[in-house]
Amino acid sequence: IATAYTVFRVFENKYYMAGASVGRDLLSPMYSPCIGGECTSHAKFIFTFQWWQVSPAILALVLPFGFRATCYYYRKAYYRSFWFSPPACAVADAHKSYSGERRLPLVLNNIHRYFFYLLLIYNVLLTIDAVEGFRMGTGWGLSVGSLVLALNAALLWGYSLSCHACRHACGGSVNHFSKHPVRYKLWQKVTILNGRHMQFAWASLIWVTLSDLYVRLVASGAIHDARFF
Ligand code: FES
Repeated sequence: IATAYTVFRVFENKYYMAGASVGRDLLSPMYSPCIGGECTSHAKFIFTFQWWQVSPAILALVLPFGFRATCYYYRKAYYRSFWFSPPACAVADAHKSYSGERRLPLVLNNIHRYFFYLLLIYNVLLTIDAVEGFRMGTGWGLSVGSLVLALNAALLWGYSLSCHACRHACGGSVNHFSKHPVRYKLWQKVTILNGRHMQFAWASLIWVTLSDLYVRLVASGAIHDARFF
């Protein structure tokens, strides 16, 4: 259902910005960074692609899709379910020989660490979106939409910082932790998050979808974004 909804939204190409007309500044995470025509203040952070006539979500989701598709946790799921290597414990591989991740297409999974670094930029942009979400027309305040986008950014940071590539960046290639006390501390903290990577993977994926749905409902006028103050 989430996949079908995402495909629908990627090509819908509207209702991704609940802006001045409803007194809010809520941008759907599926359309961030905002390079489309509906954007108002968010577009000034980046740029606007006038030449891109298809949905801007296609460009915006390239990095997140690559990051998730090469994620070690998701690999475990799709290696078992679709690649049948291994299908399950004590069940024979569907492939005659095992080449690991040394050949196409699975060798592409080795670029995961580069997606990790690029995604950090993406997380910063979504954090800016979350801060913008507290803007209510001319002033600042707190609404359900603000909280939705703030939680979305927090979960995506949790997903990125719990990544195995992050853990390696913090504590990998170190022979003696005693000589690298700062990296050791970082590695200890990230290891705790790493143990929750599966939970972050699912929670962030589901919440991105729900955040987009919420912004869509507000932007289309189906619901009103309730304001606390
Ligand atoms: Fe899952 Fe890196 S291992 S995002």
